[in-house]
Amino acid sequence: MSNITLHTLTGLKQAGKKFTVLTAYDSTFAHLISSVGIEMILVGDSLGMVLQGQQSTLPVTLEEMVYHTTSVARGNQGAMIMADLPFMSYATPEQCMASSARLMQAGAHLVKLEGGSWLAESIQLLADRGVPVCAHLGLTPQAVNKLGGYRVQGKDKASALQMIEDARQLEEAGASMLLLECVPSLLGEEITRNVSIPVIGIGAGPHTDAQVLVLHDMLGITPGRRPRFSRDFMQQAVSIEDAIRQYDAAVKAVTFPSPEESF
Ligand code: KIV
Ligand code: NA
Repeated sequence: MSNITLHTLTGLKQAGKKFTVLTAYDSTFAHLISSVGIEMILVGDSLGMVLQGQQSTLPVTLEEMVYHTTSVARGNQGAMIMADLPFMSYATPEQCMASSARLMQAGAHLVKLEGGSWLAESIQLLADRGVPVCAHLGLTPQAVNKLGGYRVQGKDKASALQMIEDARQLEEAGASMLLLECVPSLLGEEITRNVSIPVIGIGAGPHTDAQVLVLHDMLGITPGRRPRFSRDFMQQAVSIEDAIRQYDAAVKAVTFPSPEESF
């Protein structure tokens, strides 16, 4: 398979075809996930929770993100690699550029950051310098203390309209992709229709251009309660590889997420 690029993913959106994203933090899983044909690997700061056992993503450092991105890049077989900028590593545009440079040099193909229109300047600076950016909207886990918990965002009209406007502004600033976490399906659909860049969803309903899950959630091994928007693909699988293939197939056939797995 030839390497997946932004051009590939934008083309899929234009053709009305779904693509699949899955997190990975090491070389072996990166190899497996990309070999199965999943288009994008996210080196998520969710590693703070699923690898380190932290209560939130806030303790994750840039050094740790660089380390895991390097490992993922070594195993990758042609998927696009997106890496998270961790908490407070992009508080100013200058810091954002320096931190993004580290992730790109570690092997990321694009970086993801969390927040709304306040990020426009940083996104534009990165885009001008050849660094594609994905803007993460809705439930932004690095802001959990401000949000007052992990809860669905954009439920009332004012916050929904604000998110639609943020999406528009960030596309205009040069974002190459958006990611929506925990928003009502209708809002996920509206934002996906409103922008020409691909929109990845998690807990954002079936209408986004792509779906992402945390690896440990879809393998059913995350301690505690599984989030409502996730599915344990090991239930019907004969192996980890089979579970990953079933996830990819379910995203592409739009049988995941179901209404019960959406808001
Ligand atoms: O860190 C992560 O895994 C993420 C996904 C939940 C979207 O940002
Ligand atoms: Na993240």
